Amino acid sequence: MALLEIESVLLTEEEIAARVRELGEQITQDYKHLAVEVGEAPNILAVGVLKGVVPFYADLCRSIKLPLAFDFISVSSYGQATSSSGTVRILKDLDVPLENYHVLMIEDIIDTGLTLAYLKEYILRRNPRSFKIAALLDKPDRREVPIAADYNGFVIPDAFVVGYGLDCKECCRNLPHIAVVREV
Ligand code: IMP
Repeated sequence: MALLEIESVLLTEEEIAARVRELGEQITQDYKHLAVEVGEAPNILAVGVLKGVVPFYADLCRSIKLPLAFDFISVSSYGQATSSSGTVRILKDLDVPLENYHVLMIEDIIDTGLTLAYLKEYILRRNPRSFKIAALLDKPDRREVPIAADYNGFVIPDAFVVGYGLDCKECCRNLPHIAVVREV
């Protein structure tokens, strides 16, 4: 059975928390002119891409000091052949129509960019009032399609990372830090 070895800690819990707070402050500044009053139906929709985004989503949304509505989408790549064409399968669709919302899509990591490029087109077809992307991690060296986040936590090297939501075969999602791993 393949086991994982933690090679190094790339980002500590404290570094992640500090950067997520900064992103939340920046997003709060950028969106505050759009926000409704507390108590009204929120017009900003935080769309999380399950499952790896869960810790980042929870921390980022709590750092955004504006009324937010929550929704989630879950996707799965078809596999090597089709993932290179950017085809993904929607496992759980959004619950709400998007016409009334400023959509902030929140993703854990941008690797090849294929998933995000697909989701961006998918969401834009539903005519949101605006659309932006927040991603915790970016591996630009791996990019196959030109897509970038509007809000990016950390640019990281081309290495496989786990923790803070990110997994390797479902392992390590609940680590509080982000680590580089290799199979042994
Ligand atoms: P992309 O379509 O290649 O950009 O893939 C994005 C998805 O691949 C992410 O949402 C993750 O689920 C997964 N992924 C990419 N790199 C890593 C990594 O280093 N660790 C864990 N998951 C990763």
